[in-house]
Amino acid sequence: MRLTYTSDVWWKNAVVYCLDVETFKDGNDDGVGDFRGLTQQIDYLAGLGVTCLWLMPFFPTPNRDDGYDITDFYTIDPRLGTLGDFVEFMRTAHDRGLRVIADLVVNHTSDQHPWFKEARSGKDSPRRDWYVWSDTPEPDDPKQIVFPDKEDSIWEYDEGSGQYYLHSFYRHQPDLNVGNPEVRDEITRILGFWMELGLSGFRVDAVPFLIENVNPKLAEPHEFLADLRAFMTRRMGGAILLGEVNVPYEELVKFFGDGLGDQITMCFDFIGMQKAWLSMARNDATPLADALRERPAPPKDCQWAVFLRNHDELTLDKLTDEERQEVFDAFGPSEDMQIFGRGLRRRLPTMLGGDLRRIKMAYSLLFSLPGTPVIFYGEEIGMGENLDEEGRMAVRVPMQWTSDGGFSRAEPVREIPEGSFAPDRVNAADQKRDTHSLLRWFQLLIERYRECPELAWGECTVLDAGHPAVLAHRCDADGATVVVAHNLCDTARDVELTLTGLEGYQLTDLLVDGAVEVPEKGTVRLPLDPHGTRWLRASPPKIAPEDASVKSH
Ligand code: BGC
Repeated sequence: MRLTYTSDVWWKNAVVYCLDVETFKDGNDDGVGDFRGLTQQIDYLAGLGVTCLWLMPFFPTPNRDDGYDITDFYTIDPRLGTLGDFVEFMRTAHDRGLRVIADLVVNHTSDQHPWFKEARSGKDSPRRDWYVWSDTPEPDDPKQIVFPDKEDSIWEYDEGSGQYYLHSFYRHQPDLNVGNPEVRDEITRILGFWMELGLSGFRVDAVPFLIENVNPKLAEPHEFLADLRAFMTRRMGGAILLGEVNVPYEELVKFFGDGLGDQITMCFDFIGMQKAWLSMARNDATPLADALRERPAPPKDCQWAVFLRNHDELTLDKLTDEERQEVFDAFGPSEDMQIFGRGLRRRLPTMLGGDLRRIKMAYSLLFSLPGTPVIFYGEEIGMGENLDEEGRMAVRVPMQWTSDGGFSRAEPVREIPEGSFAPDRVNAADQKRDTHSLLRWFQLLIERYRECPELAWGECTVLDAGHPAVLAHRCDADGATVVVAHNLCDTARDVELTLTGLEGYQLTDLLVDGAVEVPEKGTVRLPLDPHGTRWLRASPPKIAPEDASVKSH
């Protein structure tokens, strides 16, 4: 039975919106975003059309890694509100039909977490084995160092207890030992706790590190992921894990659960994302088209999460040195835009030079790619970064609600960007009133994406567009078809597409007015504007386009 519209597999065509409570909206005038502020903005998010919020870490933290260094997994950072505020927020989100997931950061804790303080108190501490210790660590492999600007080893000597502890990230983030069954139980309890408070799942931070990185005691690393997923499904059928798994496709399929689909529900497509940027840098769709062809189909009920930017640097680690340089040259030529030698600390609109046509094309491409789109707050209005902020914080700027900022009535916790991406130029209030704005474009894309489940879970075929600058693909599901074309370059292109099985069909534009008929020989000519995009619904003769989409069963 194919229950397309029931939302039993809601994640397969969700629209995920990632935000940081701290930078979204200040509800108590102290300059820091909080759950009360976020709750006030739920109608904005519902109006945008997103269906699932992903909250970045909101737990107590010394904030040395923007909350990815946690000291208590069972409550709220007091700067962001109380558990009571959280529950009110959850109620409001659910009331508006939004699901909520949160970052699950359990590869490590803060070194200020009481567990670590106890563990480091001595070799005999009952918590000692909650972390990973060594008398003689293996020499470092430079590839393992995630933050090469700050760390030169993944082991840190602990003077007090006389051993080294493992930290895959910063030295103040000791790795938990998930080889220890007590730690695994505790992680499961954390999931259970937040699911009981209404979360529909988790974005799992740093998955390969969590289960595989030099963790000598975990005999069957993937079993842990399957156990977590089984636990969640027992408690809540539709709960999901959205995994940060930046590894090559052939390794990645193991994280879905090798054909079984019983581990990570959705994995981010880091390769597709990087190839999309390479394609944009070259105005040549070939790298992205190749990635789409190479990308394995996810197991049934699993899904790819597609994205162009996130809260971290735009990582280009899977490109060759020459390819990475091409993207740097095109989108981040100056050194202060680059980070860790492998990425860019910029947001998409600035990288595309503020060119609205090109920005709209990029997001249209994102929403049309097979998978579940994930966007980072502020992308919908085209916010820029603030390079004066340290490292990856450059892109985590306060949300721009109105021409004077509108994030807080007090001095905001982080500086508001100046210049051509400042709030007086880029803000939600103005864009709501402007039918040509990026915000309105996002609303349209989201509406159409939701109306065309073929895009998310249909069979995707990359078409020969006859011109390297154009990516054309079709998505077929249950006898319904959507055809999509994107022109990556800034000159108009006419493409010819052969659409087997659609001879004599009508193609109706879903983003603008227009329609074209597929001639009997099956090859249709499609004009594309500079950076033009077309989403076309195929309908058989005499059937209205609105009636030609995937039907419920
Ligand atoms: C997150 C980062 C964070 C790191 C350590 C990641 O992969 O996306 O923002 O610094 O994990 O938790």
